[in-house]
Amino acid sequence: MKKYIFGNMKMNMTLKDIEIYIEKFLPLVSASRNEVAIFPSFVNLMFAKQKLTASKVLLGAQNVYSEPYGAYTGEVSAEMLKAVGVSYVIIGHSERRKLFLEKNDAINTKIKQSLGQGLKVVLCVGETKYERQSKKFKQVLEREISEALRGLYENELKNIIIAYEPIWSIGTGKLPTQKEVEQVSGIIRNEIKQEYSETASKNIKILYGGSINSQNAKTFSSIPGINGLLVGGASLVAEEFAKIANV
Ligand code: 13P
Repeated sequence: MKKYIFGNMKMNMTLKDIEIYIEKFLPLVSASRNEVAIFPSFVNLMFAKQKLTASKVLLGAQNVYSEPYGAYTGEVSAEMLKAVGVSYVIIGHSERRKLFLEKNDAINTKIKQSLGQGLKVVLCVGETKYERQSKKFKQVLEREISEALRGLYENELKNIIIAYEPIWSIGTGKLPTQKEVEQVSGIIRNEIKQEYSETASKNIKILYGGSINSQNAKTFSSIPGINGLLVGGASLVAEEFAKIANV
């Protein structure tokens, strides 16, 4: 089955780096059956879009602002992203929650803005090490999901993918067990069932993210209930990310 393989490049890569990267990457993934997307920084989006035009690789943004336009110095709107050919936007990444103090209500507004412009959303959720150890993670995940999706209709869920990224696994090389990821997929699907329906719960796409590389990509993308991967560090090397994209 088709998997969703997304590369969150975070604050890495200059224009030149992106050019070299895409030229290497495209021929390596031309036969991939998966939905592959790269998420470079805002300033590289327009250029990346031009380079990707002749390929099936999609473009994503790492963030978006919660208001449609106006006096918000330094911010980027969903309409602007749509206009440069962005398909997906990551919302609620733990780095934004922690470093930029993003709260669930702002995440909810960002999701609504993005869907309103026809963008697809990758909503990130995940627990800290402490929350996992103290067994609070179920509660944390349920809350992140229900507050992020507040006021959304069931038919809008087809444009939302939920990425489970345990914070303690991001950039650390520490991985949850396959059972733990499967369990979280169950928690997420159950929350969607409570808030929406059995059908919505079955149909929602869930990605795993945190310390994925070409060695473990197959294992983690094949976990029952998991539809793909959100990759950070390993998406920065074209050959490495291509291997993951071809799982
Ligand atoms: P790493 O793959 O570097 O652990 O990062 C995961 C991530 O944060 C993707 O959004």
